[in-house]
Order: sequence, then structure tokens, then C-alpha cells
Amino acid sequence: MGKIPLSKVYESDEIRNNVLKVIGSGNFILGPESESFEKELADYLGVKRFVLSNSWTSGVHLLLKAMNIKEGSEILLPSLTAFPSVEPICHVGLKPVFVDIDETYCMDPVDLRNKITSKSAGILPVHLYGQAANMREIMNIAEEKGLFIIEDCAQSIGAKYNGKRVGSLTIASGFSFYPSKNLTVYGDGGGIATNDDSLADEVAALRNHGRKSKFLNDEIGFNMRFNEIQAAVGRCQLKVIDELNGKRRKHAERYSSLLGGTVKTPEIRESAEHVFHMYVIEVDRRDELRDFLKNKGVGTGIHYPVPVHKQPAVTNLFGDVSLPKTEKAVGRILSLPMFPDLSEKEIDFTAESVREFIGR
Ligand SMILES: Cc1ncc(COP(=O)(O)O)c(C=O)c1O
Repeated sequence: MGKIPLSKVYESDEIRNNVLKVIGSGNFILGPESESFEKELADYLGVKRFVLSNSWTSGVHLLLKAMNIKEGSEILLPSLTAFPSVEPICHVGLKPVFVDIDETYCMDPVDLRNKITSKSAGILPVHLYGQAANMREIMNIAEEKGLFIIEDCAQSIGAKYNGKRVGSLTIASGFSFYPSKNLTVYGDGGGIATNDDSLADEVAALRNHGRKSKFLNDEIGFNMRFNEIQAAVGRCQLKVIDELNGKRRKHAERYSSLLGGTVKTPEIRESAEHVFHMYVIEVDRRDELRDFLKNKGVGTGIHYPVPVHKQPAVTNLFGDVSLPKTEKAVGRILSLPMFPDLSEKEIDFTAESVREFIGR
């Protein structure tokens, strides 16, 4: 068995051809490809608008700026997430409040309720590893307390909750097309989805130097635009994303049938359709298992070894807090190889290797 990587990007001849066409078109930034990609993303997600930006982080930064939230207000988010989840919150003068996880590694609604204060303004649940957070409970709490919700869908394009795509459930949501993601544009890229036209217009203006028309700058904005080559790549991938996500789900089923009872395998929420951005198991002696698999040529990852609330950048600003379930999980979780082209043989070899280690 050759080496098995943790993840691998999707490629096709259609993508290569379309990139060459864009090069010949002379349009490079926010042109017809970007416009079509935005429309197609909005249709796919079942929302009115999608506004592309150069990353999730930029898109959500622009979104929070456009929402004009009172400085010092608190935003509740999980700590078991990629570090960028917290950054836009800090950049617009808001305070992150960290919430512990439930058995699916997403935000725990019970802890969420406990952490709400008179300063709470919004909630940023992360649909981690490709599975929707417990949105029924989170949306009920938000409604009861008058809080907005921004979904972090960086890892979950195509995932569903109660039959609806994640990213379409709340006022707005953020997506990432970074190279490791289920839909990638071969570089940085992302954006926001919303049903609110005025919010979308404001985000679109801010990303392009505050310009609402060609020669008129209404406000001080940013250069957080998207480009045509990457839009062409994204459009080709969007056409096949359901097929690619379906393959991931099949691989996950195979892993779980081979590993169930040996290690903790992912729990699937009843109302959720998971898209397995990551296939994450939980084990004792995680670091030893990781070395053991590495020696067999199996790539693994830890998402994430240091939770956001323990990062120096955060503790320096907001002090120390304790999240017992998150802190326990980060020492035990391990991401196994997961990408659409993974073969049954590779899954079987990885699972056999895990079982061999556990049985030693
Ligand atoms: C959950 C989550 N949120 C936010 C981000 C940030 O995305 P980007 O790199 O596009 O800014 C990522 C990706 O790293 C992520 O996985």
C-alpha cells in the first residue's frame, strides 16, 4: 500500500480548460465568472444572495462590519474550531465568549444558555467537520433571547439540517473555499450567504473599497475581492459537490462499520446530513496511534490540538476560561484520511491499522 494522504483536492479537465479560457478573456477580478458563481451558490444554498470574498475570514469580517453591532457586545462561539472563527469578532470590537461542545463536537446548547449575559448580541455556531450543529436548540435559544445567528459553514458546504442546506437557516453565514475544504478554489476564497439584500449590498461595497458605483466611494472599505480564475474553478466544483459529498458519506459509513466498537466513531445527528469534511475518531493514546499510522504511510490530522480559548492571542486579550469537554477532546481526537477519491482498499488498510494498534 502506497502512502495515504489526509486529504486531496479534486481536479478535472473541465477546470483546467475553464481556467485557460479566463486567462484569454482579459477579465480577472469580480467579472462574469464571479457573478455567475455568486448566483449559482445562492441557488444551491437556497438563499437570495451570496457575496464572494477572498476568504471566510474576510467575508465574515465585512459582514460583522456591515451589521454595525454595538462595540463591546458579546458573540458566543465554540472553541473547538479553526482559529479564524474568532478573528472577525475581535477585529470589529466585539468580545468572544466560548461555549463547550456536545457529543458531536459542535456547540453545546446547554452551555450556550449558561453563557448568555445582558451583553450577548449574537451566536456563531460552527458546523464542525461537515455536520450541522444542534440548530433546533440554538435557534430556539436565539429567538427567546433576541440574538442573531451567523453560521460558520467553512467545513460544511452542502450539509443539510432538517432538509435545508446549512448556511440558509439564519440571517447570514460564512463559507470557505480554502484548499482543504470540500469545495476548493485552489487558493484562498470564501464569502457570505444571506437573504437580506441590503446586508449583501453593503458587504459587496465594503469588499471593493466602499464603492457602490464605479466612481463613487461612499465609505472607507477594503480590498477583499474575489477573482475570475478562482471563480471558474469553483463553478466546476459546485456542479459536482453533491456527488463528491456523497462519496465522502459512503467512505464514512465504511470506516464506521469497520471501526465501530473499537474506537469512538462520529455520531450523526438525527436531523443532519453530514458531508464529512473530516472523519474524526476518538481514542486513548492518540499521539502514539498517530505515530503508528504515520509509520504505515497513513496521513492523519488533529482538528484541533489547541482550542481557540487556549491560544495566547486570545488569553492575552480575554483571560483564561475553562471548557472541560473541549479540553478533554483535543487530547483524544484524530482525523483519518478523507477525500472523495479515497479507495475502499485505503479505507480498509487504515481501519485495519487502527484496529491493530488498539489490539496491541
Ligand atoms: C471552521 C472554520 N472557520 C473559519 C475558517 C476560515 O476560513 P478561511 O481560511 O477561508 O478564512 C476555517 C478554515 O480554516 C474553518 O475551518
